[in-house]
Amino acid sequence: AAKEGFGQSKLQFTAIPSIDASVDAVTVPEGFTWQPVIRWGDPIFNDAPAFDLNNQTAAAQEQQFGYNNDYTDILEIPGSKGRRAVLFANHEYTNDAIMFPATMPAEQQRAVGAAAHGLSVVELERKNKNTPWNYVKGAPLNRRYLNNTVYELTGPAAGSSLVKTVKDPEGRFIKGTLGNCAGGTTPWGTILSGEENFQGYFVAPGTSASDKRYGLTSNATARKWEMDDPRWDTRNEGYQNEANRFGWIVEVDPFDPTSTPKKHSSLGRFKHEGANVIISESGHVVAYSGDDERFDYLYKFVSKDKYREGDRKHNMTLLSAGNLYVAQFTGNSPDFKDSDLPDDGAFDGIGAWLPLVVDGKSAIDGMSVEEVLVYTRLAADKAANEKGGATKMDRAEDVEPSLHTGKVYVACTNNSNRGVGSNEGANEVNPRNQNRDGHIVEITETGDQTSTSFTWNLLMVCGDPAQGDFTYFSGFPTDKVSPISCPDNLAFDSVGNLWISTDGAPSGIGRADGLFKVTLDGAERGKVEQFLAVPRDAETCGPIIHDDERTVFVAVQHPGEDGTFAKQVSFFPDYVPAGTTPAPGQARAPRPSVIQVFRTDS
Ligand code: FEO
Ligand code: CA
Ligand code: CA
Ligand code: CA
Repeated sequence: AAKEGFGQSKLQFTAIPSIDASVDAVTVPEGFTWQPVIRWGDPIFNDAPAFDLNNQTAAAQEQQFGYNNDYTDILEIPGSKGRRAVLFANHEYTNDAIMFPATMPAEQQRAVGAAAHGLSVVELERKNKNTPWNYVKGAPLNRRYLNNTVYELTGPAAGSSLVKTVKDPEGRFIKGTLGNCAGGTTPWGTILSGEENFQGYFVAPGTSASDKRYGLTSNATARKWEMDDPRWDTRNEGYQNEANRFGWIVEVDPFDPTSTPKKHSSLGRFKHEGANVIISESGHVVAYSGDDERFDYLYKFVSKDKYREGDRKHNMTLLSAGNLYVAQFTGNSPDFKDSDLPDDGAFDGIGAWLPLVVDGKSAIDGMSVEEVLVYTRLAADKAANEKGGATKMDRAEDVEPSLHTGKVYVACTNNSNRGVGSNEGANEVNPRNQNRDGHIVEITETGDQTSTSFTWNLLMVCGDPAQGDFTYFSGFPTDKVSPISCPDNLAFDSVGNLWISTDGAPSGIGRADGLFKVTLDGAERGKVEQFLAVPRDAETCGPIIHDDERTVFVAVQHPGEDGTFAKQVSFFPDYVPAGTTPAPGQARAPRPSVIQVFRTDS
């Protein structure tokens, strides 16, 4: 539950200037340096071969760290005195055009690419708390989760006719996880990861209401896995439900490499950015999750059972049963106009959590519980109260409750279609048409975290004030903030400051993506300070703020994604000079990596 108060962090730094989007470097504050923890292709098992950019095989990739790391966390191994930890990272997707030489057969490219998806768990070690981490090849907890890893579906949709296939007639055991984006770490030490853009891996009839609502079409997919396995085409007999088996929140136990990971149907099925958990005063576990689609919704899950301190086995069942709600926001300023501060000086109002599933029963007319959970977007479209329906948001990415205050932060990353054509226009909670730079919503639940009502306000409306953008930083002077655009992932430091990583700033404010600290209370509430910038074409993911150790970790995703294999535009993180033969295990090509940023005097 919530801790009290804010304090002074040990992680002091002077904000870096905004960095040009063409710079192929990691930029960190004065007095700090960086190095990789683990890179795409690093071997993680004893008999795994070294990374060889020009000769990758599926068998090698299955034993190496995957591509495009997004959510990551580092959890200390109990009893290790801070010298060993376990790192989790997911691998959202692949950038095939910069990964594979043209001479590699297409079938091999598909197989290596598939093996670069999924999840990784890798042990880390260090000499002491003042030295950087190294990953440990062959450590006992190391594990790759691949397309043939079996996940157990939990909750009401498990065993339903909507998820059965010819290979899983029980509808309970699903192979693989796809499109894993953000995530969260639970109070009981497991990892949650959101299956986001799963639709891009399936060919489908594309004609049903649910196919249309989930973006499933009859087009060939970008990676063409449907050529290798019939399950990636739901037009095939026996596989009509295969796409219903993706779009869930996954739970993984990084401390048990033999455990069966779960997919939790109780949290609904949509393009889950991620999920983050807080324990309410009543002991129920509350999870928040955004559906990252333009004009889609924000959700909240409340567990049926209560958290039991120290009872990990029990706590790992909490996400299997509970209530599911979708958010409705109502502004309090009738004078509200697009891109303008309301007359009451705040973007704010009240809200309601509209029920989708309550006490094991469907709250949506004409839909069973199983249907509500598998076709959650269709159910949320029907949710309503006297004030109307659920609120269409500007792409809710990470949604994270502060353990200091219980307030919940929602990163709405952007929505270029807001107010365009017949699309819904700006309102107080999504206050800009053609919202290029995004905004952050702050939610205060009414009383206990399980409440069905809340108040809300905007913490910030992002952009670059110096370029004339309409921005808002809770009243903090706009000439004293780092410009920020397209907020994506959120994290908190040990004293309750919010940290925001961005994805899309190059096409927003025309600057490199990065990581930003935001003060939430006191006279400096709304102050944004940029901590780092990532290399060319990369987005900043993770992040992990170990401010007590004056160390920050980020996952650098899709560096150099707009290049080609023959003409790379990023050389992060090895930066092998042109005309030089890379040392074994290195490459003159971009490699998505988890990096650590630490003080040079550590
Ligand atoms: Fe994969 Fe919503 O970012
Ligand atoms: Ca207002
Ligand atoms: Ca994201
Ligand atoms: Ca987060």
